[in-house]
Amino acid sequence: MTPDHRVAVIAGDGIGPEVIEAALGPIERAAAKHGVGLEFERLPYGADHYLATRETLPEAAFRHLRDDVDAILLGAIGDPRVPGNEHARDILLGLRFRLDLYVNFRPIRLLHPDLTPLRTDWWGGSGGATAAEPGAAAGRSATRPGSPAIDFVIFRENTEGVYLGRGRIAGTDYVAEEVNTAAGVERIIRAAFEWAKAHGKTRVTMSDKANAVPAHRIWQETFRRVAAEFSRVEAEHRYVDALAMELVREPERFQVIVTNNLFGDILSDLGAGLVGGLGLAASANLHPGRAGLFEPVHGSAPALAGKGIANPMAAVLTGALLFEQLGHPEAARDLERAVTETLAAGVRTPDIGGTAGTREVAAAVAGRI
Ligand code: NAD
Ligand code: IPM
Ligand code: MN
Repeated sequence: MTPDHRVAVIAGDGIGPEVIEAALGPIERAAAKHGVGLEFERLPYGADHYLATRETLPEAAFRHLRDDVDAILLGAIGDPRVPGNEHARDILLGLRFRLDLYVNFRPIRLLHPDLTPLRTDWWGGSGGATAAEPGAAAGRSATRPGSPAIDFVIFRENTEGVYLGRGRIAGTDYVAEEVNTAAGVERIIRAAFEWAKAHGKTRVTMSDKANAVPAHRIWQETFRRVAAEFSRVEAEHRYVDALAMELVREPERFQVIVTNNLFGDILSDLGAGLVGGLGLAASANLHPGRAGLFEPVHGSAPALAGKGIANPMAAVLTGALLFEQLGHPEAARDLERAVTETLAAGVRTPDIGGTAGTREVAAAVAGRI
């Protein structure tokens, strides 16, 4: 029987192979349950391969990934033995750029109330400061006790910005250029509004630093113009410094955030920190209509590698994004539900307060599918 979808797997470095191997259990279980035929093809690229062969991502492998697969699942790339990170530049950033995966979609959702480091009395949990009226002092709307209200998505521009690596070294000076093209800025902003509209969201927040970086005027002008086409969606702007502060103080008011490559990188780790950390943060690199690259937000966490305690949930939730993109939302929801239930049951790795190992958590998730 021919599979419905071919998925290339690059487990990568550090904890990458551990979390990917673990996550494939629940992912395969969900595929079987929902009748989705997945064929996995494992590719060896990463630090070990690079150090042994000096090959980062060979041209033939790139063409194969471009032409022959329906999705790429990646663990993490980064290794202390490659301090210049040149293999990541070719593999991770190289795939984002060369496949033109201009949307880096990074959902931030609180899956269990006790996972947020914010004052727990806001969520009806125990501990934290006690206030007669939670949130009243900060002028925030009181949230229903126990209801997990942090739920937003970051649309990170993924093909431009300072990430292109344009610039020069002039003597002792290092100069980096930031690229913001009309087409590049417009398509990510448009993607954010389209997604908001399709998912019943009522607000899109664009973030830049136009007050200090004149080039960011293009974000403001483009945002105004595109927003005018989406009259049912409120368009608001925040400078990124203020947004960072507000995300900590009132994260539940945000629905969709669209921003440039660098700010999106930083805000997505901040967002992950609001809901339990990098062990739970998933992401998808997308170009509508093309094969996507799916990866946890976290890196290779070298200090954790080989210990068997890395959290596989980010990789599992990344699998949910993969199912969603391949047209199987029911399998995606099932994976998310299984993760949420496993969290509630307290089967957790140490990064989120548990004592379970990577495999045990993955088995607990798989057992709930
Ligand atoms: P990191 O995400 O690897 O680790 C940051 C912190 O989060 C560490 O304390 C780590 O222990 C913890 N952490 C991350 N993932 C975890 C998980 N699944 N379970 C439990 N704890 C987890 O970021 P870093 O330390 O800045 O980077 C390490 C290497 O990874 C670097 O080489 C970096 O370039 C690379 N990196 C790669 C990617 C990617 O491939 N997508 C993303 C980020 C960083
Ligand atoms: C991420 C990572 C990468 C990035 C690094 C490893 C190049 O931090 O995917 O968030 O900066 O995009
Ligand atoms: Mn990052």
